[in-house]
Order: sequence, then structure tokens, then C-alpha cells
Amino acid sequence: LIHQREYLCNGEMKAWDGPFHEVFSPIAVQTANGLERKLIGSYPLCTATEASEALEAAVTAYNSGRGEWPTMGVAERIHCVEQFTGRMIEKKDIIVKLIMWEIGKSFADSVKEFDRTVEYIYATIDSLKNLDRDSSGFDIVDGIAAQVRRSPLGVVLCMGPFNYPLNETFTTLIPALIMGNTLLFKPPKFGTLLHYPLQEAFRDCFPKGVVNVIYGRGNAIVPGLMQSGKINVLTLIGSSKVANELKKSHPKVNRLRAVLGLDAKNAAIVTPEADLDLAVKEIITGSLSFNGQRCTALKIIWVHRSVADTFLEKFSAAVGELKFGMPWEKGVALTPLPETNKIEYLNDCISDAEAHGAKVVNENGGKSEGSFFYPAVVYPVNSKMKLYHEEQFGPIVPVVPFDDLEETIEFLIDSTHGQQVSIFSNNADEVASLIDPLVNQVSRVNINTQCQRGPDVFPFTGRKDSAEGTLSVPDAIRAFSIRSLVAFKMN
Ligand code: G3H
Repeated sequence: LIHQREYLCNGEMKAWDGPFHEVFSPIAVQTANGLERKLIGSYPLCTATEASEALEAAVTAYNSGRGEWPTMGVAERIHCVEQFTGRMIEKKDIIVKLIMWEIGKSFADSVKEFDRTVEYIYATIDSLKNLDRDSSGFDIVDGIAAQVRRSPLGVVLCMGPFNYPLNETFTTLIPALIMGNTLLFKPPKFGTLLHYPLQEAFRDCFPKGVVNVIYGRGNAIVPGLMQSGKINVLTLIGSSKVANELKKSHPKVNRLRAVLGLDAKNAAIVTPEADLDLAVKEIITGSLSFNGQRCTALKIIWVHRSVADTFLEKFSAAVGELKFGMPWEKGVALTPLPETNKIEYLNDCISDAEAHGAKVVNENGGKSEGSFFYPAVVYPVNSKMKLYHEEQFGPIVPVVPFDDLEETIEFLIDSTHGQQVSIFSNNADEVASLIDPLVNQVSRVNINTQCQRGPDVFPFTGRKDSAEGTLSVPDAIRAFSIRSLVAFKMN
């Protein structure tokens, strides 16, 4: 049990004597009342008062760009981040365990999330060193010599998602920090406790007030922060609805930079010329790894009518082979879902699809037990259904038959999302004819492979309501800074 009793503000661990939020794991245990989610800890339910205190600490530490951190040399800031990363590596075991218990991610994927985060931090450091080298020279044009710098933006409010509570948080938090900004960090609703072991390292490795960590309900503490007008950068991995509301509540929205990873409804397009075995293999992991709870997951599958039956037969068989189990079990693919109301929502999506003429076509699809939900393959999905439009973010695979590839392009044009798409086809001409129309709708087109974020040095963004800013290693450094010049006239 981790009972977190403090929050980090202005370089001090502040004892909290108010109410706490009890954290229940998606992993259920047998109790006198039957199977129940296990209590694994608690954290402070800070209020707007503590949030505003933490905000003032970050504002003071930034001191309108004159603070110790924003004026510190890049090499020294890198040194602080390296110290912090060393401390983080010491805590690997407990962090990995907490990822498993808080969000139900498998052991293998939890370790991967941790290792990938550390790699991301070191890659960010390397990238900054190269960028710094590039920017430290002078450009001389028309008798004017200019040094190009990368300057910080101010106070960053950083909020990550529950599905990658460590990785997605740190892929914004670290670039924001290393570029000289000061931070207010609110961990996600599920995936808060795992940040606790890092709190002391934040305190010890950075000047006071540079990193402030507050806990509590987003709707209680975040609106006031935005309304203060003192947040210079909002970085959020979450829903576009929340991001829009927060942006609108900022009194000087034109001065606010937003770095956002938002909703997605990534489609796979399986043409008559596809290698169906390869398509099934890729779409299984693409749609169902971590129970489909990835922003990059394939959330709608378009299959040409001529191959739909064969695809569904092979796909349903492959779903049947996925292993259900607890996060620590070897080879487990499907694990308990952390969101308590998720199963109700997934059942509602299935009922809605059935009411409009679709069926669950795989054995046991849509059955649930405790916080487990058996993946449902739903066919034939059409535009009247929620599953056609909504980001289900869970283990349902909607399959839409099509006759003409133009229908798939129309879907992407009409969609409010624009993250990625996967094309499965062995016909080079067919693939070539799709690339241009598709790459103008989404920010990444994958050919004969699933959608995914990595490798993390590739640009990671989206069009329309799917993102703002780009979060690859070198791009994130740019997202959290501004190019500025020191210019002088040569005589
Ligand atoms: O949830 C969004 C993640 O950034 C996805 O990353 O494609 O590596 O799972 P991934």
C-alpha cells in the first residue's frame, strides 16, 4: 500500500491533512462480498488553494525568465536531468510494479514503458546537445551577425494520460523542463501513485519551485490554474473536449502555447490485394494490445467486401488465441481495465451497433467478468453507429465492409480525427494511389503495418482534433521553446 501524504511545492514536501483519494487497482481480489478491486493506496485531494500555491512557486522560479533555471546554461540543466534520471532508474522496480497495479498493464509492457521513457530522456539530452551545437554558431547575413538561441516559454502545466502514465507524461515533462521552463505537474487519475517514488528526486535534482507536483481531481484544481492567465504552456495528453475547454478558459489564449496529444480513430484499410495473414497479425496487436487503450490503436477496420468473410474468420480465430490474465502472467495479452465505467460504455456501444444491424461475430466477444472484457469483433459496422464515430479506447474491433476505396478516403476526410492510418495491400500501384490522399488527412500513413507512435525520434502528431504540436524527440524540444536571436551589426 502506498499512502501518499505529501505534495511537492516550492522545493518542499508539504504535509497534507485534508481528504485523500483511495486508489483501487483494476486487479480484483476475493473479499467477503465477492471479487472486489484491491485498495492499493491513496493520494491527497489537493484543492484550488494548493494548486494556486504551486503555481506561484513555478511563476517565482521562472521569475519572468530571470530565474536560476531559465538562465542556467544548457549543460547544467542537462546535468540536473541526468541526475534525476539516475534516481529514476534506481526506482525502476517499484515504478514498474505500480504501473501494473494501477492500470493493469502487463509486466512486459510496463517494463517497456519504463525503459522507453529512460531512452527518450537520453535521446532528448543528445538531441539538445546537437541542437545547442547547431545554435551556438553565428549566422552572418548582410553584415548582421546573429546567434540563434532556443529560449524557454515560461510556466508549463503538464498532464499525462492513464494509458502511458509514465511515458507520455515524461515525453512532455522532460523536454519542457530541459528547455528552461518551470512546471506544474498533475499526474493522471489512474497512474498517480507511480509518480510518488520520484517526488524526492524532483525536489533534490532541480532548483526549488522548478518542478511542483500536485494531486487531486482535475476539475477541482485545473480550471483555476488556467483562469489565472499565468500558465504559458498547456501540455495535455487526453481528450480534445477537455483541451478545448481549458484553452478557452485562459484569459490570454492568444499567448498560450498548447502541446497536445488528443483523440484518434485510426483506421486500417484491408484491400482485396492484401496479405490477409499479415493484416490479421498486425491488426490484432494494432487494435488490442493493452486492451485497445492506446491513442495509436486501430479503432476501425475497413475491409473490402470480397475478402471480409475470410478476414473475419482468421481475425476471430486470432482473437480467440489471445491470453487473458493478470499483468504478471507470462504471455498475457489482455488484462483488467482500470476505468470503472468502461465496461458499461463498451456494452452500450455493442447494443447500439446491434440495434443498427451489426453483430458480435467472435466466440465470447463482449463477455465480461469483473474488470475483464473479452474483445468483441463487431460486423458490419456503418455510419449510424457509435462505433463508427467514437473513439472506443477499449477492446472492441469495429469492422466496416467497403466496395470502393473511395469510401475509406471519404471516411477520413469527414472524420474529426487525423492521427494515423494503416493500408494493407500487396499491390504497389494501389498503395501508391492511396498515399497522397491519405497523408493529407492524417499525420502518418503505415503500409502493411499497424499504427504506432515509435520509433520515438519520428514525428508524432495528428491533424484536426487529434493533436497540436509535435512530440518526437527533437520536435518536443522545439515545442517547449522559442527561437530567439542575439544580433549585432558587423562593421
Ligand atoms: O497512447 C498513445 C501512445 O503514445 C501510443 O504509443 O503506439 O507506442 O503504443 P504506442
